Amino acid sequence: MSRLEGKHILLGITGSIAAYKSAQIARLLVKEGAEVKVVMTELAKQFITPLTMATLTKNPILIDFFDPTNSSWNSHVSLGIWADAYLIAPATANTIGKMANGIADNLLMTSYLSAKCPVAIAPAMDLDMYKHRTTQSNLKQLKEDGVMIIEPGDGELASGLVGKGRMEEPEAIVEEMVRMLQGKQTRDLENKKVMITAGPTVEKIDPVRYISNFSSGKMGYAIAEECARRGATVELISGPVSITTTEKNIRVTHVESADEMWAEAKAKFADCDYAILAAAVADYKPKNTAKEKIKKQHDSQGMTLELIENHDIAAELGKEKKNGQKLIGFALETENESINAEKKLKAKNFDFIVLNSLKDKNAGFQHDTNKVTIIKQNGEKKEFGLKTKKEVATDIVNELTRN
Ligand code: CTP
Repeated sequence: MSRLEGKHILLGITGSIAAYKSAQIARLLVKEGAEVKVVMTELAKQFITPLTMATLTKNPILIDFFDPTNSSWNSHVSLGIWADAYLIAPATANTIGKMANGIADNLLMTSYLSAKCPVAIAPAMDLDMYKHRTTQSNLKQLKEDGVMIIEPGDGELASGLVGKGRMEEPEAIVEEMVRMLQGKQTRDLENKKVMITAGPTVEKIDPVRYISNFSSGKMGYAIAEECARRGATVELISGPVSITTTEKNIRVTHVESADEMWAEAKAKFADCDYAILAAAVADYKPKNTAKEKIKKQHDSQGMTLELIENHDIAAELGKEKKNGQKLIGFALETENESINAEKKLKAKNFDFIVLNSLKDKNAGFQHDTNKVTIIKQNGEKKEFGLKTKKEVATDIVNELTRN
């Protein structure tokens, strides 16, 4: 594939352990037909050698304002004009801070300030640095300045901690660049309102115990972000999750129980063009929630908990769906996957259903990746390979916007 034939991409590399992935990014960009020039910070050289990057891109690496071999001027202005896109990957908290505040103390930064092209960054840092309000406010500033943020993923970080901050994978970053340069990052959801449910629900047994499931909310949040990027106003109804979103145009309503999610969804659906139900809603809740902590009985009789059915949000919205509205559901199955998904598609009046099987490795709950099959009302099935949840979100929204 040569989707970037003739395109000039300036790749900025800053001092993060994720810089080893920049080699793969450069390789993939070149494979797509782009000409790549690399600008590195001094610290980045500690993580990946200029020689590696020069070999992959077949271009000299730019680090200093002056070329130390012949003292010729590395012009940030001409780099800014040469580039069709400027990608900074990895972007450290430090560089993000400098970008938000216009601090031009290296060639990578002066190139940013003189860039005439679209700019994208792929942040990489420890979870606490990423979460810090200063970083978040710098990212918000960059978004307002029109910089595309390729959100980091959740996962194990170099520090050994686990959380959000790991740079997005090279393949996904290159896909974003292709979309950006092909102008494909369409605003095809402009003026549309999309409601999304995400995460698990929590059904209280007593003040300290509950019934729930392993849903992380990652799939629902990725869909919400994809819709918002494509111009939609998003109502995200989220069960308790440990992730957040910084995307503009997403209003998050936090709920705990299926009853609360149902009430919010009912209230919001009528006003929405599309609803995507990615939440793992508990089918049952305890008949009674004890006001005080249930004490252990010492009679060896065990304990029986009486459960009653929750509202089936999807089925109820399916009945209310009006002409022009679209309702999309998920099916997470462990056996007879297609048959079960097709039953749900019909019973809940979905326009299409996204099936994922727990039998597929690295797919489903908690993972950053997923492998889905989209099944439509007319029986058509589209099977996709294992992809990041962000890429799966794109596939789902592409299907949603198709007539
Ligand atoms: N769903 C919902 N409300 C519920 C249960 C499910 O809105 N009380 C939605 C989910 O968000 C999903 C779809 O319905 O989009 C299918 O969910 P799933 O749990 O797989 O289906 P169930 O009908 O609960 O079937 P089962 O648990 O028996 O597989």
